[in-house]
Amino acid sequence: MTDLTSTPPAAPGEMYPQETGFAVLDEIRDAALEQLSPEVVDYLEGGAGTEATLRANRGAFGRWAIKPRPMSGVSGPDTGTEFLGLPLSAPVLTAPFGGDGLFHDGGQIAVARANAACGTASIVPEAGTFSYERVAEAAPAAARIAQLHPFEHFEVSAERARRAGYTTLCVTVDCSTAGFRVRNRTNRFSPDLAYFAGNQDGVGTPQVAEMFERLLGLSTPSWDWGRLAEATSRCALPWIAKGVLTADAAEQAIAAGAAALVVSNHGGRQLDPAPASLDALPEVAAAAAGRVPIALDSGVRTGSDIFTALALGADAVLIGRLAAYGLAAAGEEGVRRTIELLTEELRTVMMLAGTASVSDIDANCLTERPR
Ligand SMILES: Cc1cc2nc3c(=O)[nH]c(=O)nc-3n(C[C@H](O)[C@H](O)[C@H](O)COP(=O)(O)O)c2cc1C
Repeated sequence: MTDLTSTPPAAPGEMYPQETGFAVLDEIRDAALEQLSPEVVDYLEGGAGTEATLRANRGAFGRWAIKPRPMSGVSGPDTGTEFLGLPLSAPVLTAPFGGDGLFHDGGQIAVARANAACGTASIVPEAGTFSYERVAEAAPAAARIAQLHPFEHFEVSAERARRAGYTTLCVTVDCSTAGFRVRNRTNRFSPDLAYFAGNQDGVGTPQVAEMFERLLGLSTPSWDWGRLAEATSRCALPWIAKGVLTADAAEQAIAAGAAALVVSNHGGRQLDPAPASLDALPEVAAAAAGRVPIALDSGVRTGSDIFTALALGADAVLIGRLAAYGLAAAGEEGVRRTIELLTEELRTVMMLAGTASVSDIDANCLTERPR
């Protein structure tokens, strides 16, 4: 089988190692999109509404440039860090994405194994193809954060995650109803709900149809910060608020007890038009004022994007679609190669920007491009 997972050293006289597998992230995306049916491509790639948020997420990265620091003396930069006590070989976690078996049979099991191999971490989705338990059994070191929705069964799911060995919850706070997904509507997208039902087989957990009714309905009861604070105070685990884009939401989440924030617009899949995550990051970071760590997702596609997010106040990034491309392209090996390439690019950028460690990356490393 072709080895997709490692970069062999360049032979003498070769400028670049002669890759037999994926050499750049775009090759992984191309391979992924070739594997999938058009409806599943749209489910993966699409955003809500006119996809203004989706486009803005990428546009926001394009407005920043990283300042070169010539003759800095930095070599062998260290990408290692930690997030909420989890050691990470690079400031990268995979975002929770449900329906993962639509992309590859291995689903989040393959994603978690890839994270374990890379020294990074998974946020394991509630609406995934495999249960929290199965993912944790496959890769206990990487599957430590369980994502869940603030719905009726919240405390049952949280307890289930705790028993399966997860040490942190990630509560998606931007999904009181699913975004208006035009591509899925146009396709009459109607996947087998089993792909989203990995966690729907336990006592007290809702049937997957009920979960979808909640996700797609507009009149099912939706929670506020007070209810979330009460429910999480009864759970024995720290929790991350995923889906914060404003100073106000950051304040409310921290007041409700959040141990970390994810600045996210759900990859442009929820409110459209909404602010780009990167544009919202400085406001959220200023409001958090160092009280809790911050991750950013939505639009991260390169190692330089990771650098830019860290410079603007993030401690780590989550990758959603990038991880799904890796999964669809080549299962565990594809996700592993994705994380390797991201890390390799981040190290390159860090060296050229004269930053020896991720803690050296700050706003002084950036300049805004003239408009
Ligand atoms: C196919 C797919 C399914 C997703 N499912 C979930 C989910 O079940 N829960 C959740 O909180 N976020 C979900 N997300 C959002 C991701 O966690 C993340 O916020 C987003 O993908 C980040 O943007 P990016 O794809 O540009 O990296 C999903 C994203 C995708 C692409």
